[in-house]
Amino acid sequence: MKNMKAFIVAMMIVMVAAITPDCMAQKEAAAPDAITVIHSRKSVRNFTGQIIEKEKLDKILRAAMAAPTAVGRQPWSFVVVTERKTLDALKDGLPYAQMLGKAGAAIIVCAIPEKAHDKMVEFAVIDSSLAGENILLAAEALGLGTTWTAAYPYKDRMGHVRKTLNIPDSIIPLNVIPIGYPTGVDKPKNKYKPENIHWEKW
Ligand SMILES: Cc1cc2nc3c(=O)[nH]c(=O)nc-3n(C[C@H](O)[C@H](O)[C@H](O)COP(=O)(O)O)c2cc1C
Repeated sequence: MKNMKAFIVAMMIVMVAAITPDCMAQKEAAAPDAITVIHSRKSVRNFTGQIIEKEKLDKILRAAMAAPTAVGRQPWSFVVVTERKTLDALKDGLPYAQMLGKAGAAIIVCAIPEKAHDKMVEFAVIDSSLAGENILLAAEALGLGTTWTAAYPYKDRMGHVRKTLNIPDSIIPLNVIPIGYPTGVDKPKNKYKPENIHWEKW
């Protein structure tokens, strides 16, 4: 009788174990783990030209706003561009963002000094940069490619972005992040350098 009970319990464990990995595999396929995403991220400058699903842009924006900020101020706004005409208008004034030509969308991270801790530009820029990195990582996790292209601190580039998107002068357009489906030619670089690490003291 005892043996029978043990046999039934063992069988149940085997059955649960057989079902569980399938369910988990599906979950994992939808969301690669954070370390894998971090190491897979790379600047992608070659896109297929496919449009980006609104649902994916929404997930990316939610990830952006999950970033930490000094004193929780969230001194940011995000301009999302999907119209071809506007993507091209941005591209025309940004020589280092020519991949906008084949991007399906772009997000412009805007830093708002007025909302930042102590109204400091530095905090607005630091906080918004963290949101920017979350955008790059979330896009990678969703199978999309991005590149951080600089607007800040270049006056001419910020001017072009402000003019094209009606952004007020008090707001800092930090970057333009083109988003697209990668063609696959861009690869992550290994930038790990042990000499950049100082254990305990410099
Ligand atoms: C602040 C900043 C500004 C950048 N500006 C540009 C840019 O204007 N155009 C561009 O193609 N890449 C730009 N990049 C991307 C870098 O060139 C890229 O991150 C770097 O070469 C490392 O490559 P990886 O992103 O593939 O790791 C910028 C990155 C940062 C962080």
